[in-house]
Amino acid sequence: MGSLAFSTSDLQTSTSGVRSSPTLLCTPLMGTTVDQMLIEMRKAKEIGADLVEIRLDCLRNFNPHQDLEILIKQSPLPTLVTYRPVWEGGQYEGEESKRQDALRLAMQLGAHYIDVELEVAHDFNNSIHGKKPDNFKIIVSSHNFHNTPSAEAIGNLVARIQATGADIAKIATTALDITDCARIFQITVHSQIPIIGIVMGERGLISRILSPKFGGYLTYGALEAGAISAPGQPTAKDLLDLYNFRLIRPDTKVYGIIGKPVGHSKSPLLFNAAYKSVGLNAVYLHFLVDDVEKFFNTYSAVDFASGCSCTIPHKEAALKCMDEIDPIAKKIGAINNIVRRPDGTLTAFNTDYIGAISAIEDGLRELNGVSPGASPLAGKLFVVLGAGGAGKSLAYGAAQKGARVVVANRTFERAKDLAEKVGGQAMTLAEVENFHPEEGMVLANTTSVGMKPKIDETPLAKHALKNYCLVFDAIYTPKDTRLLREARETGAVIVYGTEMLIRQGFEQYKNFTGLPAPEELFRTLMEKHA
Ligand SMILES: NC(=O)c1ccc[n+]([C@@H]2O[C@H](COP(=O)([O-])OP(=O)(O)OC[C@H]3O[C@@H](n4cnc5c(N)ncnc54)[C@H](OP(=O)(O)O)[C@@H]3O)[C@@H](O)[C@H]2O)c1
Repeated sequence: MGSLAFSTSDLQTSTSGVRSSPTLLCTPLMGTTVDQMLIEMRKAKEIGADLVEIRLDCLRNFNPHQDLEILIKQSPLPTLVTYRPVWEGGQYEGEESKRQDALRLAMQLGAHYIDVELEVAHDFNNSIHGKKPDNFKIIVSSHNFHNTPSAEAIGNLVARIQATGADIAKIATTALDITDCARIFQITVHSQIPIIGIVMGERGLISRILSPKFGGYLTYGALEAGAISAPGQPTAKDLLDLYNFRLIRPDTKVYGIIGKPVGHSKSPLLFNAAYKSVGLNAVYLHFLVDDVEKFFNTYSAVDFASGCSCTIPHKEAALKCMDEIDPIAKKIGAINNIVRRPDGTLTAFNTDYIGAISAIEDGLRELNGVSPGASPLAGKLFVVLGAGGAGKSLAYGAAQKGARVVVANRTFERAKDLAEKVGGQAMTLAEVENFHPEEGMVLANTTSVGMKPKIDETPLAKHALKNYCLVFDAIYTPKDTRLLREARETGAVIVYGTEMLIRQGFEQYKNFTGLPAPEELFRTLMEKHA
């Protein structure tokens, strides 16, 4: 399967008007009693779902006539009735004829949709031929819990579904890699009949969120995180509030954070709120990526992966996929911010060092007042503890501002290597204790010493802090580390790791959009969700 290089105009013409209304949000009801389902359907309406899927196979004691009458008639939302058998991943183990009788009954009692498995769809659809009520639609579904087949095989599957007389085709496959979603996006765009295309599993999340972009008929959103009806299903609330599902359109630009793991990242929360606040037609997702090169080769359209943040373990590996790299990011050897230019090329930055250095510069200005022109770091003695990823960012960033850099690290060889590269001096961590050639030095801790859960540890003894006018700690869990507390007590200005974190986000936003970052909004959200 090649790349997802089709564009928005391709999408608009190729759907041939099959579906122009917005993608629906359907919440599956997984209650084991009718009463539970009645409560769930009211909650689904409150959250903002468009319809509910009544999963009859979840009911413990199902009495078809009585229960369907209540569930369908009392639902505050349109209903989709599904009675999934074990052989298609559901829970129903009984007689097939009884199962199909219940589905026919649901149709007669006013369900808006029923879902029938492809395996039996031909016969089932023949059995209701000429009896279908107006506005009633049959979804014919196919589930693959192993993988996502080739584009050709999926195309054949849709054709088979269409041949059964289905009104809507549902194809649910399993993602082994995030790029599997591209094949489902393509089939969704090109399908002759309305289609529900879902790629299950965490690596398939984007297929669920982006169905409005590709013209999908509906997507499923769970009532609660623990009540999913299929692997990788997001909650309806996250779809609506976190990913701004209702604002996603075919021409919406797609951004996201590439990582593994990545689900914990708060970046989608910040960026989606920021996009919404200025009415930008964009969405920011979690991209769970195993192979960065494959990801960028597959998602190569200008409006897809328009911009990416990049986190562990891809900060180095992503370098080889770039067309252009910011010179300092290149020296640091790690990128965390990727922008796709209108010509499709990828440019990368490292906003970590910009975030940290600008926060430290502001701290020095607070101390010494604002002097126009040169950076307040110019000429300063700048001691970096640590020589890992953050250490490199700080050392290169400070050197670029004209600071005299000292790198101290537990593994001395790494300190030496980095110090050489930035034209600085190397020492061991122990040597820093007695290093005080002058007053007014700047200290930047980039080791993980003092990070949660070992919050009682500190990388440098308190007595050694008196020579520093400013102390920065890259650690942001906790915000107030022992190092910063003790530095404050010795009279130094302190700069929190959270400042680096938030400011690198401002830079990413600027690079993505060309607009100033909504700083207050970012700060409020960071505090609220810390
Ligand atoms: N605020 C932000 O935005 C931001 C951004 C990036 C990172 N960070 C934080 O910065 C810290 C480092 O991250 P990183 O990505 O640079 O990690 P990294 O590449 O793994 O580097 C870790 C550094 O800590 C040192 N270290 C680890 N355990 C130590 C110990 N027990 N004693 C002395 N030194 C020790 C390592 O020394 P060796 O070389 O001897 O192993 C290395 O220099 C983390 O706390 C991270 O959360 C914050």
